[in-house]
Amino acid sequence: MTVIVTGATGHLGRLIVEDLLAGGLPADQVVAAGRRVERIADLADRGARVVAIDYGQPETLVEAFAGVDTLMLVSGSEVGQRIGQHGAAIEAARSAGVRRIVYTSAPQADTSPLVLAPEHKATEELIRASGLAFTILRNNWYTENYVGALEQARATGEVVASVAGGRVASATRADYAAAASVVLRTDGHDGSTYELAGDTAWDHSELAEAISEVIGRSVGYRPVTPEEHLAVLAAAGLDEQTAQFVVALDANIRDGLLAGGTTDLSGLIGRPTTSLVDGLRAAAGQG
Ligand SMILES: NC(=O)c1ccc[n+]([C@@H]2O[C@H](COP(=O)([O-])OP(=O)(O)OC[C@H]3O[C@@H](n4cnc5c(N)ncnc54)[C@H](OP(=O)(O)O)[C@@H]3O)[C@@H](O)[C@H]2O)c1
Repeated sequence: MTVIVTGATGHLGRLIVEDLLAGGLPADQVVAAGRRVERIADLADRGARVVAIDYGQPETLVEAFAGVDTLMLVSGSEVGQRIGQHGAAIEAARSAGVRRIVYTSAPQADTSPLVLAPEHKATEELIRASGLAFTILRNNWYTENYVGALEQARATGEVVASVAGGRVASATRADYAAAASVVLRTDGHDGSTYELAGDTAWDHSELAEAISEVIGRSVGYRPVTPEEHLAVLAAAGLDEQTAQFVVALDANIRDGLLAGGTTDLSGLIGRPTTSLVDGLRAAAGQG
């Protein structure tokens, strides 16, 4: 039962490959795929097959997927181009005779107004239309997304955001990778859509408390309006488009779109999800 993991040159994909190997899948049944494969020479040393793929070059996908049972399609990072890229991967999987696709999506991608949802919704639709077996892993936020806030707080003494009291049910990439690994290694997941989130949804006051604990110094949360937030981000040197994106995501959090509320993730991995403070400590290199 060969599994190919795309995005293996990135953070999450690498962790999924490592979890598959640690979880007992024979190394010769694990294929790690990405563009910059020089980054994952160590996975080849551990017996996994490493292949170069580019979503923009479909022939690389068809070649890489030959003889593969399951495609773990880790969503790409080039926002705005992903429907075509994921569509190419799904089409290549179909023509290579892949049996099943597992895809990393976004919370409630089919109904959510989350700014990142449309590409995931469209990908889910393409997967369903492919006729292949599938499992959808709708990952909530990574705790690692807040390392930037931690560094900002270390420098300025405060966490600034326009989320008001919105809650985030984050979990670590390692938690999501462990769940993907379970789905890839065990039966009974075909046709399922999992809403994966941390067990505990936290607000930004709690984020500031967690950061204080990790950095050993008390920092506070300063809530700002979206307009104030844009000005803060511009002053910090962010370009207008990126700043608008950050503020739009904060509005999504304010609206409760990342508040989670399921136990799908801890259920799959058989343990509680990693706490905010432990996840931050590990991500900040103090774990
Ligand atoms: N839930 C969240 O909080 C959250 C946050 C950020 C991102 N995400 C999503 O989750 C995915 C995995 O997260 P991550 O942290 O592992 O991201 P990451 O480290 O940026 O990894 C992205 C992976 O996508 C690959 N990729 C991008 N464009 C590609 C292309 N045209 N052809 C082939 N491969 C391509 C990259 O390959 P190379 O590095 O070899 O170019 C890399 O392996 C992201 O790509 C994004 O869709 C989720």
